[in-house]
Amino acid sequence: MKKQEKSLTMTVLMTPDMANFSGHVHGGSLLKLLDQVAYACAAKYCKSYVVTAALDQVFFRQQVNVGELVTFLAHVNHVGRSSMEIGIKVIAENLRTHQRRHTTSCYFTMVALDEEGNTIEVPKLTLDNDAEKRHFAAAKIRKQIRQESLEKTRALGTSTIEDELS
Ligand SMILES: CC(C)(COP(=O)(O)OP(=O)(O)OC[C@H]1O[C@@H](n2cnc3c(N)ncnc32)[C@H](O)[C@@H]1OP(=O)(O)O)[C@@H](O)C(=O)NCCC(=O)NCCS
Repeated sequence: MKKQEKSLTMTVLMTPDMANFSGHVHGGSLLKLLDQVAYACAAKYCKSYVVTAALDQVFFRQQVNVGELVTFLAHVNHVGRSSMEIGIKVIAENLRTHQRRHTTSCYFTMVALDEEGNTIEVPKLTLDNDAEKRHFAAAKIRKQIRQESLEKTRALGTSTIEDELS
């Protein structure tokens, strides 16, 4: 059986156009790159178009500096019928000292769609080692938590300033 394409690495130099007012890299710039990495990892795995359904647990542990080299390590942790959880670890490297820091980790849920926009089944994930089995089990629990959280949020209904004003 052909080896599955489950991992993807992307490295990007943090340039001044990505800076916020304090001179560090803007959170939004990192989120955009994270979304691109999640898209590429999921699309490569299932060989079809995918959309971002959800993003959770983005924790910016440390600031990223302009001039640093940032590496995104993405992996397909879990697949359901049409969805895939992509875990991404972000490592920032200072090019002068070569010091590397783990700055962010997060989980994207990507969903595979056909050309008409219908969800489609993705290939079952083969788990080749203990680490992949651990990631799969943890991702399965996160999927349950996401579904429970979604149901609770739906039960609350929407609440906006406009509701207050009307
Ligand atoms: C994501 C999307 C395709 C889901 O459509 P849907 O009609 O809810 O489809 P389903 O109920 O069949 O769910 C499909 C899968 O998505 C998952 N899913 C749906 N909503 C989810 C959510 N809020 N969080 C996490 N996963 C979700 C389901 O668990 C299911 O997974 P599975 O097939 O592996 O069991 C649809 O909501 C969509 O197109 N959203 C817009 C995506 C987009 O434009 N993203 C860019 C950001 S602007």
